[in-house]
Amino acid sequence: MDRLEGWHRTHYCGDLRKSDNGEEVILMGWIDTMRDHGGVIFVDLRDRYGKTQVVFNPEKNKDAYEKASEMKKEYVIGIKGIVVERSPEMVNPKLSTGEIEVFPGELKVFNASKAVPFNLDESSDAISEELRLKYRYLDLRRPIMQRNLQIRHRFYQSVRKYFDELGFLEIETPMLMKSTPEGARDYLVPSRIFRGKFYALPQSPQTYKQVLMVSGCDKYFQIVKCFRDEDLRADRQPEFTQIDVEMSFVEEEDIFSVMEGLMIRVFVEVLNIEIKAPFPILTYQEAISKYGTDKPDLRWELPMEDITEIARTADFPVFKEAVGKDGIIVCINLGNLAQISRREMDVLSEQAVKLGTKGAFFIKITEDGISSSIKKYFKEETLNRLLEKCRAEKGDVLILMAEKKDAVLPAMGNMRMEIIKRFNLPRKTDYVHEWITDFPILEFNEEENRFQAMHHPFTSPKEEDIWLLDKDPAKARAKAYDLVLNGNEIAGGSIRIHDKSLQEKMFRLLKIGEKEAKLKFGFLLDALEYGAPPHGGIAFGFDRIAMIFTGTKSIREVIAFPKTNSAVSLMDGCPTEVNPEQLKELGIKIVV
Ligand code: AMO
Repeated sequence: MDRLEGWHRTHYCGDLRKSDNGEEVILMGWIDTMRDHGGVIFVDLRDRYGKTQVVFNPEKNKDAYEKASEMKKEYVIGIKGIVVERSPEMVNPKLSTGEIEVFPGELKVFNASKAVPFNLDESSDAISEELRLKYRYLDLRRPIMQRNLQIRHRFYQSVRKYFDELGFLEIETPMLMKSTPEGARDYLVPSRIFRGKFYALPQSPQTYKQVLMVSGCDKYFQIVKCFRDEDLRADRQPEFTQIDVEMSFVEEEDIFSVMEGLMIRVFVEVLNIEIKAPFPILTYQEAISKYGTDKPDLRWELPMEDITEIARTADFPVFKEAVGKDGIIVCINLGNLAQISRREMDVLSEQAVKLGTKGAFFIKITEDGISSSIKKYFKEETLNRLLEKCRAEKGDVLILMAEKKDAVLPAMGNMRMEIIKRFNLPRKTDYVHEWITDFPILEFNEEENRFQAMHHPFTSPKEEDIWLLDKDPAKARAKAYDLVLNGNEIAGGSIRIHDKSLQEKMFRLLKIGEKEAKLKFGFLLDALEYGAPPHGGIAFGFDRIAMIFTGTKSIREVIAFPKTNSAVSLMDGCPTEVNPEQLKELGIKIVV
């Protein structure tokens, strides 16, 4: 194989233009494609920056041609040659360098390559993800993955500049730490020095960032890896990245405005798109009752209406039964969906059953009046009131579902998204952010028969709800908020408790005993006794936002070396067994 021997690239493979005609250049990269056209070899040479066509013509340079004829895809080569403008009919408008080609005088072959296991110019969907992850180094060579990494890079830079300009300090917090209660299982790291003791990898730097506020750091941020051993899916990885933020002397509105500024900034700098703030705010209750989820995709309106009071008077057994067992009847006006067929309505109704309801029922407002299989159960006056409540107009279609509240709201929320996708309903805009606020502070864990923190135990209740903590804790609301973008939860945070006695009260409610609290968070409780300022913060799911920026469907597309849904790294094969010596040193015995 050849060596560099003093060669330096004069250009990258995406650089050359018509204006470089006649220049002598040195390019290096990978062979993307090779075509033999009547004894002339055309090579597309590729690097991170683009592709350039290189022409090996035996009549112009026999040595280089012969050497080139031995090459294969993905060989790593360098060429020294002359840039030649292509004739107008030969211009390739798909390539940034499509106006020129290079005729090499010298060729160096730096390395060969085995035949690649998949075609690097295929679309991501066409290649098995398992193969892509096993050969991630090849997968990342693909221009689409290079683009994703670049978008991610621009996103990091934009975040850092923004917070720096506002006077935030980027402070690293430990990766080997005491376990924090973020709700998932911890990844544990055994200590060699203290046998039987463990560090935990951070589920988030939550406790440290609060301590930093006690330390007077005032405004902290960090782009940080977090680790959670939880069920994985397209938007969840066992290790993922957060933009973690904490601020002193702030209320919710202060956090919202700084974070809205961040979003405006990154949208311009990464996507060149201007978005508007302030973002709409929905309380948790509003979100659930209008959209059946705490992360509604508001690119479409289509809110749900509770029509129980009107529809309960209908003589329809399904509705009667639902209302009889304390259920509700909900409806969405789907707008003009005249094209919906009988068959499609049946399919959706079957789906509604699978979602845990008694089915979905439709009312069509046609030119000739109302068409619906349940029309016969309604008095005309009731139907008219229903149409009025749902602001129905000619051409509109209403969907109705009934069940217990806990079942029908999420089911209708799912149905809303299903219908949007199935009928490709037009959206208002491409990106919609909204804040979800006023989450319940606690949720009941049926299995363990105790309350647990909905966000985390350091979240402050709303002042006006503190009395409810003793009387009716399930009703108490938190100063907690999520930021949702296009139906994805992209951030979550809260104003914290900065008062030791309230923090202890929360621990009591969560049935975390004094001893346990001291053991787990003694350091934070101690810190709260030494002048803790009022403070609050938020953390963004960096990978999720990068996924939205790149228009991909999984955060694995924006993480260089992701794990599968069973938390395996297919490239290096981890997790793996370790050698018995290592275990012995740690005092660990494996029990299968
Ligand atoms: P939370 O647990 O809500 O808050 O996490 C913040 C954001 O991180 C993202 N996220 C994930 N992304 C990928 N894979 C995962 N497994 C994963 N889990 C969470 C989500 C989520 O909105 N310490 C608090 C923040 C605070 O209170 O300031 C916390 O971690 O986008």
